[in-house]
Amino acid sequence: MRILIVGSGGREHAIGWAIVRTSPGATLVFAPGNPGTAALGETADVAATDLDGLVALARERAIDVTIVGPEAPLVAGIADRFEAEGLAIVGPSADASRLEGSKAWSKAFMARHGIPTAAYERFGAGDVEAATRYAASFGERAVVVKASGLAAGKGVVVCRDGAEGAAAVADVMGGRFGAAADEIVVEAFLDGEEASLFVLTDGEAYVLLPTAQDHKRLGDGDTGPNTGGMGAYAPAPAVTARVLGQALRTIVEPTLAAMAAEGHPFRGFLYVGLMLTPGGPRVVEFNARMGDPEAQAVFPLLTSNLADLFAATAARRLAGRRLEASAGSAATVVLAAAGYPDAPRTGAAITGVAAAEATGALVFHAGTARAAAPPGDDGALDVNGGRVLAVTGRGDTLAEAVAQAYAAAAHVSFDGRQMRRDIGHRALGGAVS
Ligand code: AMP
Ligand code: GLY
Repeated sequence: MRILIVGSGGREHAIGWAIVRTSPGATLVFAPGNPGTAALGETADVAATDLDGLVALARERAIDVTIVGPEAPLVAGIADRFEAEGLAIVGPSADASRLEGSKAWSKAFMARHGIPTAAYERFGAGDVEAATRYAASFGERAVVVKASGLAAGKGVVVCRDGAEGAAAVADVMGGRFGAAADEIVVEAFLDGEEASLFVLTDGEAYVLLPTAQDHKRLGDGDTGPNTGGMGAYAPAPAVTARVLGQALRTIVEPTLAAMAAEGHPFRGFLYVGLMLTPGGPRVVEFNARMGDPEAQAVFPLLTSNLADLFAATAARRLAGRRLEASAGSAATVVLAAAGYPDAPRTGAAITGVAAAEATGALVFHAGTARAAAPPGDDGALDVNGGRVLAVTGRGDTLAEAVAQAYAAAAHVSFDGRQMRRDIGHRALGGAVS
């Protein structure tokens, strides 16, 4: 089976790695891929948002099924394009991707169908006054102000009280997030622990992936600016069997049924960002794709033949399937560039990747580039993006997985490397390294 993976991050590297491991006979093409994915298959120099180029590539390489990593091509309609061309793809249509691409649409969808989430109001570009008033009405209570459109995880301001909320409205609507904030959502703050739930669905049936927890802040102890994610682990013990059952019954199943009933069935990976509140799990956000770095912890645990499962998803024959995962845990530590997330500094030389891999850990590439090196030396790497590498450890327990990840990460160095030292702290209690 020939599989095209669209994207160039650690998530796509991890998905490709898991396909190779579980699916004899599968061959991979990555577009555009990265120096890490080059070891797993062909690298095609086609951007993830070049829909014409990707259609042409899929035809040229006789691709059996395409898997889309990032949100931008989904929101731009890659799944609609591929299906119109008769090409099999795992990923939601542009209409279904609004669950992620428009927080205003997503909140209205949840309100229409009674899916548990935070109380909210949406405001358009002309509604600054009304938005300010609504935010201020929270008084002493915490409130969250969000740009509605895609803002790479950065268009969200969590505010201590109504006064801070009103200031955030001015800031977010003031142009800092561009068109993403032409529309905003102001919502109540939900208190609790966050966890991520992932399902792979063909629009009706779904299979469940291991749950995970992300670490969004740059610094130890959940301090500093929000990032795309500095580490993750799977499964998340906070999601007990009871909470999981509740989330599937009150969130996942009604969401899939309502998306289909409204005429835009969701096909692909549905990422449910949950807040585990005393009143039960509530939706913080939906994403129309796998998480990054959550995928780098989740995919190494999967043992089912993934190529078959992806083909079945694209063919809408997922009913009766299961997705098997090993009983252990995985933990992923992200190594980020100096200056990340605001202004990552590229160009530093990376050393120690082979030594890290020799420990048994997995090293997934994201912002790396092959360095201009003397002929014959093809091992040299440079920093080429914000999140550079994701190092995943595995073990029978989360503590073992975390220990393996940190032991491996210690081998990798580059100028200005940023790394959280407390990945897994919520589940393990206290700092771990
Ligand atoms: P989002 O992009 O909507 O997931 O928001 C980014 C992060 O902001 C989330 O992962 C949460 O940590 C935080 N956040 C967003 N909405 C809320 C909320 N209603 N209550 C508490 N925290 C929130
Ligand atoms: N790690 C968070 C995300 O992928 O959205």
